[in-house]
Amino acid sequence: MPESVDIAAFLEEVLQSAKYNRLSRGLVSKIAAEELNNQGNKVKALKSTRTRLHRLAGAFIPTNINYAQWLDKLQDQPSFRAPEHLESLKQVMRLHASTSERLPYLEFIYKDLFSLIPSPQSILDLACGLHPLAIPWMPITADIEYQACDIVLPMLNFLSTYFETFRPQTHIFECDILETQPNQTFDLIILLKTMPLLAQMDKTAPEKLLNTLNFRHMIVSYPLKSLGRQNKGMEKTYRAQFEALLENKSFKVQEYAVANELFFIISHND
Ligand SMILES: C[S@@+](CC[C@H](N)C(=O)[O-])C[C@H]1O[C@@H](n2cnc3c(N)ncnc32)[C@H](O)[C@@H]1O
Repeated sequence: MPESVDIAAFLEEVLQSAKYNRLSRGLVSKIAAEELNNQGNKVKALKSTRTRLHRLAGAFIPTNINYAQWLDKLQDQPSFRAPEHLESLKQVMRLHASTSERLPYLEFIYKDLFSLIPSPQSILDLACGLHPLAIPWMPITADIEYQACDIVLPMLNFLSTYFETFRPQTHIFECDILETQPNQTFDLIILLKTMPLLAQMDKTAPEKLLNTLNFRHMIVSYPLKSLGRQNKGMEKTYRAQFEALLENKSFKVQEYAVANELFFIISHND
């Protein structure tokens, strides 16, 4: 790290942008410190810190969402499963690239996926984005525990307030999944479209994460189209990434796919 750069001042500079100021402070500090160290130059470090934060989170959801307005709208539609409420949830899910891409498949994707495993009593949705808003399409009852976490703070506040009203068995919290050590065993852990981002940060991160998680079943998915919409041989790349991840591990693996997303259902053999 260059002697002259003050890490606190550097962090303040990164956080001046609303796009990064909304992200989990621990993660931003960690990446800023790593980049200062790697680049040895403040200007380059600022650029590479922003690039990494953009790739991890900034690229998927705009900064200027009026969450209060969406909450008002949803609270004016008090029936959780009424068609107008479901339509509003779809509109909100359209604001995050990952859930937006899944909208054409909502009506059957969860029925299909959940039919491949026993009914879960507890679910953890890691790096969730706006995905918990798809709960009404999942074949789970209101008493099933659903926990979900991410690093985009205003989005987490919105989800938390929404679920306090509409589904209290849903717990939304901030977490950096690269640092987390959940000690609970979940019937189902969901990690959608995020393994490639973690691998980009650190090749060993997907395996480290897999080894820290306690689950009976896990659904991991990979995008088959990039944000720019072109399919660049992603299926082959991510299949190889997934196979490498499970090498020397004895899980039962099932597969499911829609046009733009490839799912693997990993289950313990016992
Ligand atoms: C490709 S999106 C997937 C969102 C969601 N899983 C889905 O498929 O609808 C990746 C998500 O990972 C989150 N994320 C990135 N790095 C993270 C980290 N270290 N810890 C927790 N969440 C992270 C981002 O904020 C973003 O919402």
